[in-house]
Amino acid sequence: MKAIISDIHANVEAFQAVLKDMQYQGATEIICLGDFVGYGPNPKECIDLAVDFDVALRGNHEHALLTEREGANFNIKAKNSIEWTRQQLNPLGDDSEANTKRWNFLDGLETTHTEGDILYVHGTPRDAITEYLYPRDIYDEEKLQSIFAKVDWLCFCGHTHVPGIWTEDMLYLTPREVNCRYHLVKKKTIINVGSVGQPRDGDTRATYVLFDGSCVIFRKVAYRVETTARKIRSIPQLDPYLAQRLLDGR
Ligand SMILES: [Fe+2]
Repeated sequence: MKAIISDIHANVEAFQAVLKDMQYQGATEIICLGDFVGYGPNPKECIDLAVDFDVALRGNHEHALLTEREGANFNIKAKNSIEWTRQQLNPLGDDSEANTKRWNFLDGLETTHTEGDILYVHGTPRDAITEYLYPRDIYDEEKLQSIFAKVDWLCFCGHTHVPGIWTEDMLYLTPREVNCRYHLVKKKTIINVGSVGQPRDGDTRATYVLFDGSCVIFRKVAYRVETTARKIRSIPQLDPYLAQRLLDGR
C-alpha cells in the first residue's frame, strides 16, 4: 500500500505524526508530491526525513528556492520564509556537509512521476509546479477538460492544501462526502491528497492519503500544532500569521 503525501512545509511535528500513522496503517511505499519546505520552522529536519522516499517531486517552494526568480509570484510572507529557508540550507555556512546533501536532494526532485496510467504532480497535469486546481473549477469546463486531457486514468496532486476528488464528468467531492474512502471507478479522476504541514480545509490535523490500487483513503492525523506555532513565532523572519493559520487550519 502506498502513502501519498504533499505540502509538508517544514512542519516536522506534523510530518513525524504522519510517518508514524502510515507505518501503523501498513504503508510500504511513500510518494511525496512536493513543498517539503517553506512557511515552517524545520526545513532541515523535514528534508532529512524525506531523503529515502520512493518518489519525491518538486513543489513551487522548492522551485522558488532553486530558481530564485520563481519566487517573484510569492506574497511577502512566502518570500521571506523562502529567504530564511535559503539561509538555513546554506551549503557554504555552518552544517556545510549536511546542507550540501540537502541541496542535492532538492535539486534532484522530479517535476512529475508516472506509473502506467497514474500520474503524480504537485500542481496540475498541465502545469506540474505552479497551477492550482480548486473545487470551484468544476464550473470551469474549459480548464477542467484541458487538465483531464493530460490524465490517462488517475492523477494525484497537492498544492492547494485542500483534499478532494474531481472526476472527468465535472463532479467534485470532499473527503467527508465519501466518508474518507473513495472507491475508484473507470472514469478519469484527480485526487488532491491535502497537506501534511499546513492544512487549509478548516481542520488543523495533518492530511494524507493511502492508496492500494483501487481505493483511496483520506487520513487525518492530530499533532502538537501549538509546538509548531510557537517555533514559528520565535523566528522573526517567519510572519506570525503563518503560526495563526496552523491553529485555524486555514
Ligand atoms: Fe504548498
